[in-house]
Parts: sequence; C-alpha cells; structure tokens
Amino acid sequence: MTLGTVRSALEGLTTDVDESGSRFVFGCDYNPEQWDRSVWEEDIRLMVESGVSLVAINVFGWAQLQPNPDEFDFSALDDIIGLLHGAGIGINLGTGTSSPPPWLSTLHPEILPVSQEGLRAWPGGRQAYCPSSPVFRAAAERLVTAVATRYGSHPAVRLWHVSNELGCHNALCYCDVSADAFRRWLEQKYGTVEALNRAWGTAFWSQHYGAWEEILPPRRTLSSGNPAQALDFSRFSSDEVLECYLIEERILRRLSDVPVTTNFMVTSHIRTQDYWQWAPLVDVVANDHYLDHRLPVPHQELSFSADGTRGLAGGRPWMLMEQSTGAVNWQPRNIAKQPGELIRNSLAHVARGADAICFFQWRASAQGTEKFHSALLPHAGTDSRKWHEVLELSRTLDAIREVVGTEVVAEVAMVFSWETWWATDLDSHPSEEVRYLDQVHKIYRALWEAGITVDLVAPGADLSRYRMVVVPSLYLVRDHEAATISDFAAAGGTVVVTYFSGIVDEDDRVRLGGYPGAFTELLGLRTEEFFPLPEGAQTRLDNGATASIWTERIQTTTADTVSSFLDAPLPGEPALTVNEFGSGRAWYLGTDLDHDHLWELLEQAALGAGVTVPPAHVTGIESVLRRGPEADYRFFINHTGLPHTHTISGHELITDQPVTSLEIPAGAVRVVRTERTES
Ligand code: GLA
Repeated sequence: MTLGTVRSALEGLTTDVDESGSRFVFGCDYNPEQWDRSVWEEDIRLMVESGVSLVAINVFGWAQLQPNPDEFDFSALDDIIGLLHGAGIGINLGTGTSSPPPWLSTLHPEILPVSQEGLRAWPGGRQAYCPSSPVFRAAAERLVTAVATRYGSHPAVRLWHVSNELGCHNALCYCDVSADAFRRWLEQKYGTVEALNRAWGTAFWSQHYGAWEEILPPRRTLSSGNPAQALDFSRFSSDEVLECYLIEERILRRLSDVPVTTNFMVTSHIRTQDYWQWAPLVDVVANDHYLDHRLPVPHQELSFSADGTRGLAGGRPWMLMEQSTGAVNWQPRNIAKQPGELIRNSLAHVARGADAICFFQWRASAQGTEKFHSALLPHAGTDSRKWHEVLELSRTLDAIREVVGTEVVAEVAMVFSWETWWATDLDSHPSEEVRYLDQVHKIYRALWEAGITVDLVAPGADLSRYRMVVVPSLYLVRDHEAATISDFAAAGGTVVVTYFSGIVDEDDRVRLGGYPGAFTELLGLRTEEFFPLPEGAQTRLDNGATASIWTERIQTTTADTVSSFLDAPLPGEPALTVNEFGSGRAWYLGTDLDHDHLWELLEQAALGAGVTVPPAHVTGIESVLRRGPEADYRFFINHTGLPHTHTISGHELITDQPVTSLEIPAGAVRVVRTERTES
C-alpha cells in the first residue's frame, strides 16, 4: 500500500458522505448491543440531526455474532446496518475480533496472556488473548471471514475497522507460545545462535546461548536482564500484534474492496507498537486520542499526538477515530471538559491535519466499566450542554469544510522513534530521570509555545523539505539514520541535537570513541563522561539558565561553546555548543535546560535557520497553517482566558466575516482563509 492510497481512501470518505463536495467525516463508535431496539430508532434520528456521517459498529460484537463455536447470528447486526444505511449514514465496520467471547477462553484457556512474572490473566475484561496464539488467530480468522463474506459488498460499509486499538492491553505476552514465536522471530532475524549471541552481548554475565530452545522472552529476573533481549522482545511484540492486523487485512482484501484500517494509539501512555512499521499497511491512518490529565499541559500533548499521526500519514490528512466529548473513565481523576474545550480540542486536531473527527462513543453506556465515560449523547439526554456543544461542533465543521484535503505547513521536523523510546527507557542507565518521552515532550512544548509547527518524522526519513531538524535524546540510532541528519546539515540545514543522543547502535551496543557516538563529527565535540545530577539538584549556566537531571564533560573539537556551566559538577565546561558543518549548522545541548531558556534556544536556532517564527507570539494561542491549492487556512486556537487580537487579512470561516484585525475570544477558535502565501 502506498501513501497515495492512504490519501485517496480518506478522500473517498470525505467526498462520499455528501455529494455537494468535501466534508469532514463526523462520527462515533456505536454499541447498539448495549441497548434495547426501542432506543435504536431514536439513536439514528439524533445521529442524522447532529450530522453524524460515519458510525463504527461491531467493534465488540464477537459474543453476539458468534454465541457459541458452532453458530453465527447476524440478525441484530443486519438490522442495525439496515437502519444506518436507510438513514444515509456510512459504516466503519468492526471486524469484531477485539475481545474474545467467554466460550473461547473457556474452551482454550491457553489463549490467555501471561505477564512477565508468569501470571496468567483471567478473562472478564477485554483483549484477553496472546497475540501469538494460533488458537486465537484461527478463531479470529473464522469470524472475520464470516463478517467480510456477509458485509464486504454492502453499500453502507465505507471502511473496515480491524479489531480495536490492537495491543492496547495485551501487547506483551510472556507465555510459552510467545516464547516459541519469539525464537522463530529471532531465528529469522539472526539466522544463527552465534549471531544472536554477538548482537545481544551474551559474553556478559555468562549468558551465552548454545541452542534456540534456551532462549526465553525477558521474563522477570533477579537482577537486571539483558537489554538487547528486552529490545528485541519489544520489536517482536510490535510485529506480532501487527501480524494480527495483517491476518485480518488479508482476508478483508480478498473478500471486499472497502478500505481497511485500524485505530492507532499515538499517546503518552502506550508505547508498544512501532507505528512507523504499521502506517504503510493501512489505507487510512487513524488515531485515538484522549486528553491525559496526568500530564502538565494536556492540550500540548494533543498537538504532539496529532503531529505524530500526520507524520505517520506522510503529511496527508488523517482520521481521528476516537476522542471524548468530556471525561474518560480510566484516569485517576476524570476531568470534564470546560465549555468550548470540545471544539478547541477537535479543531486542534483539524488544524494539524485531521479530516475526520470521530468519538468514543455515541450514547453513554448505562452499564459496564465505561458507564462514566462521556459520549456525544450523555446520560442526561439532549437537554444538556454537552448535546448542544456536539451540535455546535458539527455546524463548525461544516462552516470550515473547505479546509478538507489541505495540508499542514511545517518547516521544522522532529525525529521521533518508538524503538528509541523502548531502548532509552531500559534500566541500568546513567539516570532514571532521562525518560525518552519526557525529553521529546519538553522540546515539543518549547516549540509549541514559540508557535513553531513541527512534523514528526521517523529516523532516516527524507529531511530535504525542512529548514531545521530537532533530534531529542535519540539514544539509539542506526548509521544510515544518523547519516541523513548529518547530510541534512552538510547541505545547509540546521540541526539541534539534545543530550543522550547517538549513544548506541541498533543492538544497544555503545558506539566507542566518545559520546554522542553517531553525532560527534556533526556536532564537533566529544564527551568522555556523563555527570547526571542527583534528584532535585540544579546547576546554573552563564547565560542565566538553570538546568537539572543531566550534565556531561564535553570537549569541543570544531564546535564553539555558546554557554557553559557555572556550578558543580562541571564548572566552566561547555553546556551548549554550535558547530558549522558543511553549509549548515549543528547545535548540541548537553543538559536539561529550564523551559524558558529551551524555548529561547529553539527560537534562536529556528530564526537562524530561516524558519518563519511568528512575531510577538502569544503563549496559549495555538496557530497552525493548512495550505490548499488555492488558499491558505490559518487556525487560531485561544487556550487562554483572555481575548486576543491578531492582525490578519482574509475571511474568517466560523463567523463567516471578512477580517483585517481578527478578534479571537477567550477559549475560542478562528480559521482565516487568506491568499496562498507561497507556491
Ligand atoms: C479506547 C477504546 C474504546 C474505549 C475508549 C475509552 O479508545 O478503543 O473502546 O474503551 O478507549 O476512552
């Protein structure tokens, strides 16, 4: 599948829904099996009233569709599909395999996943299966074949929704079946046990393997385990879950011409899938995103997730498959959305490339563990603020529909890697405070506040269209991936690398000769020793900054020192450097800078690179540009409690007014169409 196909499948959805031209997909998960049939007709009527155009059904349908191993019952699904079709609502049809029914685990308890400690999970929640289980896979194949045979050509089915959030709960299984599959995967990768011994560095601690059968998943050990083994197990686990997707995808392609996707989780709390591997295999890149109130600024992480999803879609429009209208049910405190927040969140996704805005779920459940999760239609019914906001969101999406199909403009790329995330967060490192995603979020947050839009790109991606590339803590990097970054600088680009980058190769083997191994030449320096700081300790720099977590003894070779440490443990030693490299420039930040100085540094580097940095940017006003063939669309999202005025000439789409001086009320969103500024 090529990225061109990714684009056309979503284009199909945004144009199919309405003959009068492109329109955002506005949709939701719908679980009619939780309700009496008397409720269904009201549901459909209200869906039409609220402009819902795509509904995901049968996501958790297995137990209803196949009440026992020998019986399929499609009657209820036939009816609901008929009702939706009759109302002109498109269907995002779940294959139904996301949660095996109780009869399957009763007959085959061996499909239940096993934890690192050797504890087998019980059924009773969801997704309780081992991704490598041949028994589970065969049962899933049978169900998907039945579903695809019955509905594969149904005119209402616009999209296949394979399983649900694959790997959300069960990505890492340590059972004996997984152990066998892991060995086969390793054999495929290394060919011989000796090659594996070399890659895993098993000369250490008497870990040398003599035969494949001796190798296990990284189950709980007394001391730290082998990091290369753990890293390979993360890769294997992502591949196994991906294979579950592919098993279904192959059946769907054989029996149906409808585009196929599954919902990714580009999020802060799930990191088990390497979505760079997955993205080329779906027809529509789709993401689920929920505000995480455990993070300092949840809406900044929303932007990060959206930029990441756009990266997976190769810069093309993408689909938000799930978000919430208000509180979720699975955080320690489930914070409701303030008035206006639903529209801000939704339009932030749109600003960053979403052409489909969908929700979990249509009607708030009355039973089950998600009964306190918000929905489009709350427990209170239509006489509620929530319902009116849903209607307002739908109208707003209609008002800005000419944005559909346009692309986000970004001059800066940030290298992001799930594999590096796995490797960086392994134990026995210099400081447990160096967590990959924290590092990435810090840099992202500073860029967000500077008003600089970034594309997230995979290591090794083509960087030629960017002016600046930011490389936060890219601990694990392959030679050719590092080379693309150095080549980019050599050709005139600006690179900003932050500490704990370039340290190991793909086998988690340290690059010898000084840190940051893969980038020493690019950065014009060499670090001989790390000096992480004690918990809570700070050090000062001579530019007025404070820093925490990390310092290192940098010796410049060709780089210039921009700032040095003032305090112990490295007084007078370089903390921030810049190196002219080829026709470009490479900055290195060898410490964890305070937020304001990080922002200042990134803004300075961006200005030097010729990046358009918004003048007098106001913190809390998120501003992103989408560019169409004929016009530019500038989004302004006011996250502050104060109105903001911006000088811009064009036509504001939400209020449908010409503007020269744009007033953005507190908490509001505005979208201004202007002439295209560049070709
Ligand atoms: C995920 C799942 C949904 C639902 C929501 C709740 O996104 O895909 O089924 O559980 O979480 O937030």
